[in-house]
Amino acid sequence: MNMRQKLVVSVSGKGGVGKTTITTLLLRTLLTHTKHQLLVVDADPVMNLPAMLNIPVEMSVGEAATQLRVDIDAGTIPAAASKQDRLEGEVYEALIEGDRFDFLAMGRTEGEGCYCFVNRVLTQILDTITANYDVTLLDMSAGLEHLSRRTDRNVDVLLIVIDSSKMAFDAAVRIKELAKEVHIEFKRIWVIANRFPPAKIEELAKDLEKRLNNEELELAGIVPANDQIAEFNLKGESLLELPNDNPAVLAVDKIARRIGLLSEELLLELLGRS
Ligand SMILES: Nc1ncnc2c1ncn2[C@@H]1O[C@H](COP(=O)(O)OP(=O)(O)O)[C@@H](O)[C@H]1O
Ligand SMILES: [Mg+2]
Repeated sequence: MNMRQKLVVSVSGKGGVGKTTITTLLLRTLLTHTKHQLLVVDADPVMNLPAMLNIPVEMSVGEAATQLRVDIDAGTIPAAASKQDRLEGEVYEALIEGDRFDFLAMGRTEGEGCYCFVNRVLTQILDTITANYDVTLLDMSAGLEHLSRRTDRNVDVLLIVIDSSKMAFDAAVRIKELAKEVHIEFKRIWVIANRFPPAKIEELAKDLEKRLNNEELELAGIVPANDQIAEFNLKGESLLELPNDNPAVLAVDKIARRIGLLSEELLLELLGRS
């Protein structure tokens, strides 16, 4: 399937609920069931995604931007245009091109002061880069700054991950409300419940769905707690290597189908280009 469309999907939620795990499992599903050109972006400065994917990262975009900032302060870069060119060049250098998908680690910018220029250029460059892929998956940080800074402004689908805690549920509601406040208009927002006790999923699903609907949020599906995920993480093995019949893998396959990531018609509808 070649969609020649771009879809940007971001994965948000409270810390530790499973954003990086869900991003990895969604990537696994897309690799297994589609021929999409894929870009995966680790937008969390903590950078856990490379470990879950087993990708060695030599330089993050943030490190490149920090160096640029040092050079701007030192006055060794004269014109604004050349600053932008250089940052763009470094972003492409930080891009890791794999056989099956490309990967970009945003990392963090260091030092004090305003990074407005650097941040603005980075957001612009991300827009340019994502246009080269059918689907971009963004693994976001736990905080809400990415919303208030409008890093998400070109995101089409916002996935909010929750676990069974009240804190995670409340965080999901806050994320949705903040997005509205700062006028980021996602085409779709879905909640993915993760790490639920496998034996109780059906029992919990109805109640959860109702509580989410009361907050004008929609449940995409529930991913069970799964020991094999913990095992793989412990051994440092890539979650992409989980077997096809793993219950968490199967749950994410179903979610991806439900939210339209595996079907061209649904995707086009989502993008309003049908
Ligand atoms: N469905 C699951 N079953 C078992 N362990 C999980 C599951 N989802 C996440 N975990 C574990 O929870 C921890 C936090 O997950 P992670 O994806 O890093 O969260 P986040 O990116 O939101 O901070 C990890 O150690 C991961 O192995
Ligand atoms: Mg994470």
